[in-house]
Amino acid sequence: MKEIIDVGLKTRTVDLSKCKTEMLVAGLFSDVRALDRTCRELNRKLDGAIEKLIELGDFKGKEETGAVLYGNERIGARRVLLVGLGEKSKATLDTVRRAAGAAAYKAVEMKLKTISLMLHRAFGGRFDLAAMGQACAEGVYFSSYRYDEFVTEDENGRLGSLSVELIDSDSAKTKGLSRGLLSGTIIGKAQSYARTLTNRPGNVMNPAKLAAAAKKLARSSERLSCKVFDEKQLAARGMGGLLAVGSGSQNKPRLIVLQYSPAAKLKSSGPTIGLVGKAITFDSGGLSIKPSDRMDQMKLDKTGGLVVMGTIKAAAELGLPLNICGVIPAAENLPSGTSYRPGDIVTTFSGKTVEVQNTDAEGRMILCDALSYADKQGCDIIIDIATLTGACMVALGKYKAGLMGNDDGLIKQLQKASEQSGEKVWHMPSGDEYAKEMKSKIADLKNTGSKWGGACTAAAFLRQFVGQSKWAHLDIAGMDMLEEAAGLWTAGSSGFGVRLLTTYLMNLAGKKD
Ligand code: BES
Ligand code: MN
Ligand code: ZN
Repeated sequence: MKEIIDVGLKTRTVDLSKCKTEMLVAGLFSDVRALDRTCRELNRKLDGAIEKLIELGDFKGKEETGAVLYGNERIGARRVLLVGLGEKSKATLDTVRRAAGAAAYKAVEMKLKTISLMLHRAFGGRFDLAAMGQACAEGVYFSSYRYDEFVTEDENGRLGSLSVELIDSDSAKTKGLSRGLLSGTIIGKAQSYARTLTNRPGNVMNPAKLAAAAKKLARSSERLSCKVFDEKQLAARGMGGLLAVGSGSQNKPRLIVLQYSPAAKLKSSGPTIGLVGKAITFDSGGLSIKPSDRMDQMKLDKTGGLVVMGTIKAAAELGLPLNICGVIPAAENLPSGTSYRPGDIVTTFSGKTVEVQNTDAEGRMILCDALSYADKQGCDIIIDIATLTGACMVALGKYKAGLMGNDDGLIKQLQKASEQSGEKVWHMPSGDEYAKEMKSKIADLKNTGSKWGGACTAAAFLRQFVGQSKWAHLDIAGMDMLEEAAGLWTAGSSGFGVRLLTTYLMNLAGKKD
């Protein structure tokens, strides 16, 4: 797929103050008064401009702030961008990622062709250089991303490409940074891929088109294979949940199975990981129709599915020594004369019956079939990801995804990957008391609980379909539906989960860079 903005990333060993570039980017903490050696040299050559900026209080090094200075004949750069890093003691790898993102965001706004980052220098030896290289690459991809494939008239325009170099005067340092560049690029591209396919609206991306995209992805690597079940095959297998949700639309549902197996020399006897992603290509709510206000955002209800596709794309390109089985149930949830109704009793793939109370609680109706499928395929670990409940947004806001599960070890591993990847999660319960609310009097289960704890009851519903597998659930409802551009994030899909899940898989594979 054509990248929306073609990003090129490399490293270069160069004398920093002499580095010829359109914009040299340095990071400064809010609580470190002294400038480092390179910034002192730049400051001197710029006649004290950096010091003045700080003295006058125009730049305080706070996070999400920046200042542009203009170069002169004594330095190589035409511009110097200072990026605020916040308090030094609070810095994490995500500070590096966001700072690189801030620089890339600005570069796209200013229509610059090349920028040179020396951000890593502010962090000294605090983080591994390869990890910082990876974080810089991820941040650059994330924040330079723009979704404009359908814009035909734009007076402002933008450049088609951006090249970014990570620079240092010490070749050992650039070598260290470059060790993380490949994985950062693979992950960054995979996240952009997920965002673009998610951002495509319901008339462009329906279940069959999504299946075609998965097949196309599978053709890009010998290690990938893709099977798609259409509505007839779903009926033959008894996937009643997915069929019920898809029944209201002319665009029939699909179950997409995207498999990755490593090259023979990497074959591991390790666990098979199932990744299950909700892909509702448009969620109107069905007969339990949603209010029209902001219903358009529900084109993003396929994020989970695309995050799974993006993660598997990354895993294949990284060549991870793991077996991964992606299961993506895809359907369009529309009201019509053929829709499933409130009150219907549906027999799911597992054999369990579900009383439908609300057709807008459709995510769990398709995920239950996909989870049992992954379990029956012999997955040892199953992780599902879904824009599942408004209740999760109410609970956690737009900063953290809900994380539920049935295995403490798996929860801990995902929490660790979350810290590394900067995609934040919060552990929430989904135990027996929540499951009790999902019992029906006339079927085995019903698809809604009480008024309270909706994210937890939804997870408690799902956990009943994973058998003995270790299972975790990520509710990303609040994470992928951004109405407006905010800071370093353009409106629309964030592809939340590609970094988190890929990092989890890399850790599992024992492969750090
Ligand atoms: N896709 C929605 C969840 C959602 C809502 C995501 C708002 C992002 C923003 C999901 O299918 C849904 O409609 N859930 C219902 C469940 C309820 C009917 C039990 C909800 O959260 O209101
Ligand atoms: Mn819904
Ligand atoms: Zn939905």
